[in-house]
Amino acid sequence: MDELSGRTAFITGGASGIGLATAHALGAQGMNLVIADIEDGALGTAEADLAAAGYPVMGMRCDVRKVADLEAAAKATVDRFAGVHIVFNNAGVVATGRVEDISTEAWEWVMDVNLWGVIHGCRVFLPILKSQGAPGHFVNTASMAGLSSGPLMSPYFVSKFGVVALSEGMWHEARIDNVRIGVSVLCPGFVRTRIHEADRNRPEEVASATTGDAGQQFMALLSAGVEAGREVGEVAALVVESIRTNRFWILPHGSESYAAVQRRANAIIDGAAPPQFGNS
Ligand SMILES: NC(=O)c1ccc[n+]([C@@H]2O[C@H](COP(=O)([O-])OP(=O)(O)OC[C@H]3O[C@@H](n4cnc5c(N)ncnc54)[C@H](O)[C@@H]3O)[C@@H](O)[C@H]2O)c1
Repeated sequence: MDELSGRTAFITGGASGIGLATAHALGAQGMNLVIADIEDGALGTAEADLAAAGYPVMGMRCDVRKVADLEAAAKATVDRFAGVHIVFNNAGVVATGRVEDISTEAWEWVMDVNLWGVIHGCRVFLPILKSQGAPGHFVNTASMAGLSSGPLMSPYFVSKFGVVALSEGMWHEARIDNVRIGVSVLCPGFVRTRIHEADRNRPEEVASATTGDAGQQFMALLSAGVEAGREVGEVAALVVESIRTNRFWILPHGSESYAAVQRRANAIIDGAAPPQFGNS
């Protein structure tokens, strides 16, 4: 999809981090913006900043765990901007701890936001984009945690592997149906955002995003990685370029990430132990 100017982008998790940076990058391309998020204060600030930069923007409170919220957001987007062309299913959260110790509620929270949020976003917006006839593009945020895994963050790994599989399925179906809909899956390594503070948006039935000493220690490691991570602007620029060039795999960490994918493939073929996420 090379013509972005005057078209409309819908971005979940758009009030912070990668989503907000990508909103700025797409605004700079002349796009109308809808940022959808659950965190009211950040949403208001983000909307004001985007408007101050001169971009046509609408902020929407939208909990991606709820299909009705996404349906309402889609309707509001089309009502306001007369169409929608890029859908960035990007909202995400993380919980850490051992598989059996993480509560059912915390498992459900991560799966509901990271995987169901993307499923809902795709299912709600696919018919709209198809019906418009104009070119469209979905970007689904997975992670390198969707291409390699390890201990103490299983809900996150499970959800992100799901996002990769879903995105691959959509890519194939767009070709079978011969529609002008591009699909990309975003798989970053560490990026400097507030993902390690996902606790701030946890529902009340989830006691904490960390479970047990092991979960707390792993979250500390994750925080250090995130704080030393890439800048969001670099990721946002790559997302825009990948939409323009219709590139499916977006791996902002390049060779570091390719090596992790190679290690995993080699281990599978060699019948070796699974390599651990983050270790080279
Ligand atoms: N930062 C990293 O190192 C990294 C690496 C790989 C993948 N990711 C992924 O990038 C995506 C964006 O995260 P980020 O790193 O910018 O973190 P972030 O915390 O800065 O942004 C995430 C946004 O999602 C929103 N959100 C949370 N729950 C929501 C819900 N139920 N409905 C709607 N919005 C909700 C938050 O309010 C926040 O604005 C996530 O899917 C994350 O898993 C991040």
